[in-house]
Amino acid sequence: MKLCIALDMPSMQENLKLAKEVREHFSNEEIWLKVGLRSFVRDGRDFVRILQDLGFRIFLDLKIYDIPNTMLDCVYECHKLGVDMMTIHASCGKEAMRSIAKLLRKESSDMRVVAVSALTSFDEDGFREIYNTSIQHGVNSLANIVYESGIDGLVCSIDEVLLIKSISNTLFTVTPGIRLESSSDDQKRTANVKVAKKIGSDFIVVGRPIYNAIDKVGVIKQILNDMKL
Ligand code: C5P
Repeated sequence: MKLCIALDMPSMQENLKLAKEVREHFSNEEIWLKVGLRSFVRDGRDFVRILQDLGFRIFLDLKIYDIPNTMLDCVYECHKLGVDMMTIHASCGKEAMRSIAKLLRKESSDMRVVAVSALTSFDEDGFREIYNTSIQHGVNSLANIVYESGIDGLVCSIDEVLLIKSISNTLFTVTPGIRLESSSDDQKRTANVKVAKKIGSDFIVVGRPIYNAIDKVGVIKQILNDMKL
C-alpha cells in the first residue's frame, strides 16, 4: 500500500512548502503527490512540472467525464505531461474506456488510469438518489465495466475494495476518505489507515488530515507507521 498526499491547499506556495518538507523527510518510493482540480486550475502544468522536478510521482486527479473523443484527447495530454496516474469517471462508459486503454497500449504508456466508482462523499441515500441502486450494486456494475474495458483500476471507499478485488485481483484500488479520527466533513465513507491496510487497498489518498495538521510531518510519520502494521 502506498500513500498519496492530496495537495488541495489554498495556494501554490503552501502546497510547495509541504512538498519540500515531504522531500526532506521521506523517500520518493514512499509517497506520491496528488494534484487535483483546485491546484490544477490555479497552478496548471507548471506546478506539476515543479513537483516532478522534485522527484515526485504525480497522481493527476481531474476525474474527467465527457464524450469518448474528448476524453481520449485529454488522456493523451496527461500522458504527454508524464503524470503517473490519472482519474476518469467509470460512468463515462465502455466505449470511452476501451479507447483509452487502447491508446495507452499504443503509446506504451506507464501512466495508470483509475476510474471513479462511487465518490466517497456519497452515503447510501445520496448515491441512490442519483443512481437508483445501492453503492455495492452500483460499484459492482461499474467495476465489471472497468475490468472489461481494460482500465487499470478504480477509486472507491474502503468498503468496496474487497468487492472490486473479487471481480479481479488485478484491479488496482485507490481509496480516499481516510481519516485518523472521526470527522464530520463531506467524506461519508471513511476508514482509518490500519483498516485500509488490512482490507488491502493499493493506495490511500489523504488530504485534510495532513495539510490541516500543525505537525504535518508528524502526521505523515504516523500514517506510514500504521501502514506497516
Ligand atoms: O481532504 P481529503 O482527505 O478528504 O482529500 C481526499 C482527496 O481525494 C480530495 O482531493 C478529493 O478530491 C479526492 N477524491 C475523493 N473521492 C474520490 C476521488 C478523489 O475524495 N472518489
